[in-house]
Amino acid sequence: MIPREVIDEILSRNDIESLVGSYVSLKRAGSNLKGLCPFHSEKSPSFTVFPKDNSFYCFGCGVGGDAITFVREIEHLDYPDAVAFLAKRVGINILPDTDAPSGGERKIDKERILKMNVDAAKYYHAALFAENEKARAALRYFTEKRALSMATIRHFGLGYAPDGFDVFTKYMLSKGYTHEELVAGFLSGKSERGHYYDAFRNRVMFPIIDVSGRVIAFGGRVMDDSQPKYKNSSDTPVFKKTRNLFALNFARQSCAETMILCEGYMDVIAMHAAGFTNAVATLGTAITADQARLMSRYTKKVIISYDADEAGQKAAVRAMRMLGEVGLEVSVFKVPDAKDPDEYIRTFGKDKFRAALDASKSKFEYNTDRVLSKYNLDIPQEKINAIAEMSEMIAGFYSAAERDVYVRAAAKKFGVSADALSRDVERIVKRNVKTYAKEQTQKIRQETAGFSDRVNADFVKAPTVAKNEESVLGLLLLFPNHRRKVFEENMLSAEDFFTEFNKKVFLYLQEAYKNGEDPAARMNEVFTPEEIGRLTKIKLARMELTDNGDEVLTDAVAALKASYAKKQAEGTNTYEGLNALLANIRKSTEE
Ligand code: CTP
Ligand code: MN
Repeated sequence: MIPREVIDEILSRNDIESLVGSYVSLKRAGSNLKGLCPFHSEKSPSFTVFPKDNSFYCFGCGVGGDAITFVREIEHLDYPDAVAFLAKRVGINILPDTDAPSGGERKIDKERILKMNVDAAKYYHAALFAENEKARAALRYFTEKRALSMATIRHFGLGYAPDGFDVFTKYMLSKGYTHEELVAGFLSGKSERGHYYDAFRNRVMFPIIDVSGRVIAFGGRVMDDSQPKYKNSSDTPVFKKTRNLFALNFARQSCAETMILCEGYMDVIAMHAAGFTNAVATLGTAITADQARLMSRYTKKVIISYDADEAGQKAAVRAMRMLGEVGLEVSVFKVPDAKDPDEYIRTFGKDKFRAALDASKSKFEYNTDRVLSKYNLDIPQEKINAIAEMSEMIAGFYSAAERDVYVRAAAKKFGVSADALSRDVERIVKRNVKTYAKEQTQKIRQETAGFSDRVNADFVKAPTVAKNEESVLGLLLLFPNHRRKVFEENMLSAEDFFTEFNKKVFLYLQEAYKNGEDPAARMNEVFTPEEIGRLTKIKLARMELTDNGDEVLTDAVAALKASYAKKQAEGTNTYEGLNALLANIRKSTEE
């Protein structure tokens, strides 16, 4: 375990403002800072950083906590790794955890896997230049079939996984890696009969490198038409395919304005070789919300350049939506006369590609073409359908000014009056707003009823008691004098708490008090990020109040005890409170 003083030192040196600021663009708002939440999609900032007490909280999605919680969430690390991450960030050396459990399941060490991946990448790369016919064929595949230069092959560290049962595995064992490590890193597999074999065999290899330059995974392609065409690392302790992008390690240098999103590794490599070094690709899956957010951290605008076939264009429409949702400007580039960007560049050259790319269509133009190509405008009914679809599409734009521009353009195309079209569009906008509001009310209704309260599942059973508990806990979390009073004078005990979660928080605070520790001290050891988010919310609710004096504490404690007593007197009807609450909500939303 890492000593308390070291953690305190790590926390005090990682000031929350600069830490969060390296992921989220923050703007000052009074004594706090605000930005777009990196944990959920939003258009107006509800993510807030409180430099005063080194914490953050998102009023939209409820994520919150301190620097450690932030790193746990944003880097997807567990508690010890998050601490190590922050230590490294400020140059503090923490000794490796040596008291790992002995025997049985050993914990796979991420640093080892990363080192192993580097050795594997070197091995595959060297194997591409080996003196044998199969290796020569692999190299020819890259240089002749895919027209790559030696410089490009070296730049991307491309390689070859030899054709054998376990040549690679044996080599890695000789370097000191264990079977378990090789399997955990997806470099070797284990057969039913217990033999370890190479995960990649007779494939050309693409190392996948993250933004910090670490080799996190591999993709391997066959050199003929056999199946499967690609084999990719599954998720490993150091790799999550839905959260990384191929070539972002290079693209990050030149993508501040625009990024190009492709489907395939080969498209990206061809683009980089042709000078479009701002190209990235997903890793064999459709784009995810995590990847969209990742892109929004590096760029303002994304040009989607997927395969020209129907599947590729369908995927482009989806990507357009995902990227739009995180606030990125999006356009779509469909290569003419080629199946994908790689083939286009190989056939027509990079200058033609540049020209075509510059003419890439805005989201509006692209969608318009898609709609128009589906209908025959000479037939009245089809024209009406086309107009209806266009109206829906235009109504999807957030800004009224943008809608106005598109309405005029579309009206001209269809030969109808802009006024009429505009009325149609605004009707749809109103309808959408209504649906949205309805969905929100539904959501709030569910949340208030506790149906989705994952942190405090008991809340719904006695909302009044639970709220009173939170009120007391807020005071205890914030003020040392209140902690002293409650814990020294035994004003409250765990038995005074009805909900399990709040009871746990109370016991935690009591324990911290006994040990002379700050309540924040072991928070990340004891609670999940989601729970810490709730604690932050409870604290903030109290912080907003100007009067948090002694009497407020005494009153809060009394209110808690009274409401709990009342609840117990009510007896067995656990759902009385819920029913009353639901009736109330119904009344307020129907008014
Ligand atoms: N892919 C995959 N598994 C497959 C096929 C494709 O994981 N069986 C992923 C790969 O990441 C690939 C991307 O989907 O790069 C796009 O597929 P495709 O267009 O077929 O690949 P290209 O890279 O364009 O391959 P090539 O031009 O070599 O055929
Ligand atoms: Mn291709």
